[in-house]
Amino acid sequence: MIYLDNAATSFPKPEPVYEALDRFARTSLANPGRAGHRMAIAAEEQLDAGRNTLNRFFRGEAPERWIFTLNGTDGLNIAIKGIVRPGDHVVTTDLEHNSVSRPLVALEKAGVISLTRLASEDGYLLPDAVRAAITPATTLVAMTHASNVLGTVQPIEPIATIVREAGAFFLVDAAQTAGVVPIDLRSLPVDLLAFPGHKALYGPTGIGALYAGPRTDGRLRPWREGGTGGDSSSPTQPQALPHALEGGTPNVLGVAGLTAGIAWVESRGPDELRCHEVDLLRRVVAWADDSNGWRIAGRWDPETHVGALSLIVPDPLTPQDLGAILDTSFDIAIRPGLHCAPYIHRRLGTYPDGTIRLSPGPFNTPDDIDAFLRALSEITVAMS
Ligand SMILES: Cc1ncc(COP(=O)(O)O)c(C=O)c1O
Repeated sequence: MIYLDNAATSFPKPEPVYEALDRFARTSLANPGRAGHRMAIAAEEQLDAGRNTLNRFFRGEAPERWIFTLNGTDGLNIAIKGIVRPGDHVVTTDLEHNSVSRPLVALEKAGVISLTRLASEDGYLLPDAVRAAITPATTLVAMTHASNVLGTVQPIEPIATIVREAGAFFLVDAAQTAGVVPIDLRSLPVDLLAFPGHKALYGPTGIGALYAGPRTDGRLRPWREGGTGGDSSSPTQPQALPHALEGGTPNVLGVAGLTAGIAWVESRGPDELRCHEVDLLRRVVAWADDSNGWRIAGRWDPETHVGALSLIVPDPLTPQDLGAILDTSFDIAIRPGLHCAPYIHRRLGTYPDGTIRLSPGPFNTPDDIDAFLRALSEITVAMS
């Protein structure tokens, strides 16, 4: 199979990730606990190593500010539901994945918050739109770092400054950028950063992380409470990070894989990884420009793009048919449909069928892309 669905989850993983998972599962897969036996201590040390690695890679303030989560959705829910209070105003965008949109819409429908959803231009949010939307009641701006539908990287640096000056919290969904776009939390005024570990950080599914910056201290309430491996006598959740937000047995095997994945990314460098994927997409853009009827969704700017690209499917084909034909007749995996991001498809006019999204990874080659383009040409001719 030619796998071009890395924006959903990366496959294959780098070899050191498989090795770390195998080694850890065979030797140290105990329940981490500070007061436990040697295997429990080894598992706890793995959690510490994971937090240190995250903190070094993203230049956070301290390892304990990193919360291990189940996936991107889990971290975003912990952040959103933990930070807002009744009466708050929240600003978000039409580029969001449902893991940001749905918690916010649920809070709006419950009468807890008021919500402003900003419209992007050709896949990019303008910083001035954020400035204009902020009111004295705004406590949170929640947005994606890159569109998972279009691959467009958002100008979060100027937006972060605007949000900080307004005194609101800034939550960034880095699902599509963590590992391919450098993020420096010492210089970027982001309060909350959430991402899955299973995309461009090359961990397995079932692991993610949330960074809780110093301004969130005392504000971020846990919405899941339970065992933390220590402080067991306390009738309530411990207040100190990370355990305040980490009730329950953590996915320590996932942390072992994620730690190895980040080490691999560090050895290659995020810029090099992004450029490889964008170079592969250039072939698709050139092909679409020369084709009769195929169009790229959103603005194509290789400097501000990650390795995901949506193609608008010409009539009479549908994205769903195309996805099925590519899978069954050509052994190629792409993602058709709305990509859990319905608002941007409404904005682009591609709702409800969506687009086809291809997202190459570090192990894809120009030959893979050429095979995909040959398949598209063949299917287009056969259907016309
Ligand atoms: C932009 C974006 N945000 C959030 C998520 C949710 O991540 P997860 O599926 O790990 O919960 C995704 C996953 O595709 C995504 O692309």
